[in-house]
Amino acid sequence: MKICVVGSGYVGLVVGIILADYGNDIICVDVDETKIAKLKKQELPIYEPGLSGLLNRAVEEGRIEFTTDIKKGIQETEVVFIAVGTPPDKDHKADLQYVYSVAKSIGRNINKYTVIIDKSTVPVGTADEVTKIISSELKTRGTDHEFDVVSNPEFLREGNAIKDFTNPDRIVIGTESEKAMKVMQQIYRGIARTGKPIMFTDVKSAEIIKYASNAMLATRISFMNMVSHLCETVGGNIKEVAKGMGLDDRIGPRFLQAGAGYGGSCFPKDVKALIQTLEEHSCVAEILLAVEEINQLQKHSIVPKLKSMLPDLTGKTIAIWGLAFKPKTDDMREAPATIIISDLQKSGAKVKVFDPEAMDVAKTILSDVIFCSNPYEAAEDAHGLILVTEWNEFRNLDMEKVRKIMKSPYLVDGRNVYNAEDMKKAGFKYISIGR
Ligand SMILES: NC(=O)c1ccc[n+]([C@@H]2O[C@H](COP(=O)([O-])OP(=O)(O)OC[C@H]3O[C@@H](n4cnc5c(N)ncnc54)[C@H](O)[C@@H]3O)[C@@H](O)[C@H]2O)c1
Repeated sequence: MKICVVGSGYVGLVVGIILADYGNDIICVDVDETKIAKLKKQELPIYEPGLSGLLNRAVEEGRIEFTTDIKKGIQETEVVFIAVGTPPDKDHKADLQYVYSVAKSIGRNINKYTVIIDKSTVPVGTADEVTKIISSELKTRGTDHEFDVVSNPEFLREGNAIKDFTNPDRIVIGTESEKAMKVMQQIYRGIARTGKPIMFTDVKSAEIIKYASNAMLATRISFMNMVSHLCETVGGNIKEVAKGMGLDDRIGPRFLQAGAGYGGSCFPKDVKALIQTLEEHSCVAEILLAVEEINQLQKHSIVPKLKSMLPDLTGKTIAIWGLAFKPKTDDMREAPATIIISDLQKSGAKVKVFDPEAMDVAKTILSDVIFCSNPYEAAEDAHGLILVTEWNEFRNLDMEKVRKIMKSPYLVDGRNVYNAEDMKKAGFKYISIGR
């Protein structure tokens, strides 16, 4: 199939490159000229394991091209994915200006029956709005081309994007059009072949499924962070609690880890946007208000843990291991590390940082920190160390060596990666989350 993907960010690139790998002819469009110039040179503007190999193959076999020319993308294909950003606006609603701008371009340029697929995470009712915008542009042109707007939310996780896209738990497709259903079946034939269910539903339910899923996952995280406070106060162990809960089939073991709070480009903004949508329609949003509040508290609870061992941080050097909001990505949007670093700086500390992948991104958003080239360099001469992101490479480091090169032995483990006894043996004064 000939497919256009508008928006060459995390989602757009994964969709475009993998669909090219499945034999489709793909045109990836973006307004960002620097991004497109990089992609034309086969350089990925994002870090995603395995994606670069697939990109090279698709380019070399002529199945993918990159352009800033959206007209070309729309007119030379039969399917257009909208995969642009939907960041929060000043009221925490999803800012739909990029989606609507693409809808306008589609209305101004379609020249045949086209299936428009909304991959961006958008509030319920957006597909209707996109339909109206396209119809109005067609009317202005005095032309009439049939089209369908389909909701096809994306559930991939950064760092696992290829596996998640090619082997998803489910593919949700919201459409009532038989013609669009056939096109969608054809696009996902290769992926559905792996036995993964395609769930066809109405457009509005599909739009709600995406927000409700992210909000549920964020709720589990905040729920466990809430319970971790109880463990800390009365002397329980959140890891044991999570294990005992997760053995219940009705609950299951995943997303029960307490930690330094959730971040990233999706959970924080999607929880806030769903709160706005609920309130807009006069529905109760109290659960999600609490989820959001606990998450903020959690991010701000890390520095006080360090201060409980090292009360005065003025002039002290603190090392941070991990900056990305989670391992296997360089994404630092709403990363707990940014709040923890800012709390440290407000307390007068100097901060040294290391992350295996997010250093380039970090350099554009962090100021007054020392960037180090490995975890040992970050820990050297530090008075305290905080593990923020649970990269695998932090799991088995020589912690006795780390302790020796530090000036004092304070370690806060924001992800419960280490065993408390081992850390004690290595000479650390150690605090983790809810244990
Ligand atoms: N990142 C994730 O893990 C993830 C997972 C599932 C869903 N989503 C959702 O997918 C959407 C995209 O997210 P992302 O992380 O890929 O965003 P991103 O910011 O990485 O990429 C968005 C891209 O769209 C481009 N763009 C903006 N306006 C444009 C226009 N008019 N024409 C062409 N290109 C334009 C931007 O230049 C940017 O490159 C969001 O709604 C997000 O919530 C993201």
